[in-house]
Parts: sequence; C-alpha cells; structure tokens
Amino acid sequence: MPGTAAMNSPQAAGDRWRGFLTAYHRDHAGITETLLDRATRPGVGTPYDWLRSGVPGKPDRVVDLACGSAPMNRYFAQPTDYLGIDVSRGELEVALARRRGPLVEANVLDLPLPDSCTDVVICSMAIMLLEPIEQALSEIARVLRPGGRFISTRPVTWPIRVRDVRVGVELFRGLRQMPELPQRFTRSGLSRLQASVGLSVTEDRALRFTHPLHDASDAACIVEGLYLPTVDPNHRRAAVERLTNLAGPTRAVPVSIRRTVAIRPISGSPS
Ligand SMILES: C[S@@+](CC[C@H](N)C(=O)[O-])C[C@H]1O[C@@H](n2cnc3c(N)ncnc32)[C@H](O)[C@@H]1O
Repeated sequence: MPGTAAMNSPQAAGDRWRGFLTAYHRDHAGITETLLDRATRPGVGTPYDWLRSGVPGKPDRVVDLACGSAPMNRYFAQPTDYLGIDVSRGELEVALARRRGPLVEANVLDLPLPDSCTDVVICSMAIMLLEPIEQALSEIARVLRPGGRFISTRPVTWPIRVRDVRVGVELFRGLRQMPELPQRFTRSGLSRLQASVGLSVTEDRALRFTHPLHDASDAACIVEGLYLPTVDPNHRRAAVERLTNLAGPTRAVPVSIRRTVAIRPISGSPS
C-alpha cells in the first residue's frame, strides 16, 4: 500500500511516540511521583531516596532533567541551587502547584544552559525516553563541570522474585502485550554510550522495590502508570481487573529500577 513504508519508518515511529508522550504527561501529570512515592524497599526507601543517596553531600547546583512534577526538589534545599527541566507543561504545572522550582520548560536535547555550569545532573525514570540518546548524553556531558556527576534511574525487568511472575502473567493476559518504551538499554550499552561523550560510569546497580497492591485503586494506578501507546482500552480494563483479583492487604507488585552513576573526569572533555 502506498505510504505504508513512510508510516512504518523510524521517523514516523519516533513521531508517534513523541505525540503519545506529550498527551500522556498532559493527561496524567504527576503520575510517576504518585507511583514511586509508594514504591519502597526496606533500608533504602523509595526510588527517589535511592537517587538522592547517589548525590554526595550538598552540591552547589543540581539540574534535574525530565523532572516531571519535580519530586526530587524535596531533597535539595538551600544552599543547593536546584533547577528542574521538562518538556511537559502539565507536569511543570503540577510541580509549581507543589511549590517546587525553579523550573524551565525545555527539551533535554537542547538544554538552555551554559557549558560546565553544574556539579550534578540527575534524571529520574526518563533516560529511556530521550531520543536520540546520544544527543541527550552530549548535552548532559556539556553542562557538567569536570568532576561532576550524572545520576540516572530507569525501569528494568530484573531483579524480580519467583512470586512476582504471577503479577506479570496476569498483567500480560489482560493487556495482551508488554508495556512499551522507546528504548531498552543493555547494561553495557548505556555505559558505552556515556563513555562516548566522556562520561565514565562508576556505579551501575539494580534493585527491586515493591508497590502495594491492596485494592482496585492500586491496580488502576499501576496500570495507569505504564506507557501503553497501542493498548486497547478494553484490554487495559481487563488488566486492572486481573490485578484487582490478585489484590490483598499483603500483596505488592515489583518495581525494579537500575541506578547508574557517571562522572565527567577532571582531565577529560566531552567530545
Ligand atoms: C516517567 S516521567 C519521570 C518524571 C520525574 N523525573 C519522576 O521521576 O517523577 C518522564 C518525564 O520525562 C519528560 N520528558 C520526556 N522526554 C523529554 C525530553 N526530551 N526533554 C525533557 N523532558 C522530557 C516527560 O515530560 C516526563 O515528565
């Protein structure tokens, strides 16, 4: 059929994803914070606590990329100079309503910041959305001071426990497909990409957090928090029903997250 090749091109797929992401974060602003604030691991806390613990002491400046509703702002009071950046106006409005900031509406691919302006760049649960990733990483390396750190977290499928398999199966049987992400990095793949812009990975570790699955509203929130650009609404409802059937006072779903810490070496410069 004429036009089919163009509709299936990487460019068209990228455009579809960007359109989906824009609408999703407009309509569900703050959803990541709602979910991750309730995802915990004993001795660690939430994924946000874990990201914070990768930032040493009280840095002069922290730039929070793809900050969403800016939950990380809660960890950085004066004298740290915090700046949150996101493309979604809806997310930034939620952040503002929660008195967080300062905030800038901008794309990570083209940061409105001078070279070498910050000690720390953080990015919670968004690096897998940044395309082209090489351009995003070059921008991150450019704005980091020599010796500065880039700490990111992202969702992964491992580690899980045997008892988690049931949740995954029920979710899949309801949705009839897996949740999607524009890109899934291998562990070494992201390290290599960071190395190519002069960032040297010093820590790369995944942990399993859990989110409660006590009732139907937890089930709805969990399904709502997934990126499901092509899932039929009936299948989404079926997934909520199946998770609701598993719910109970001690039930939980796994939330596995990888944290990567990279440093811009003092002697090196971004290419
Ligand atoms: C899963 S949410 C994470 C939000 C927040 N960091 C958190 O952990 O709660 C992903 C965020 O990435 C933002 N985003 C995606 N692509 C972006 C880009 N190229 N530049 C800036 N923000 C982007 C979205 O608007 C959304 O707020």
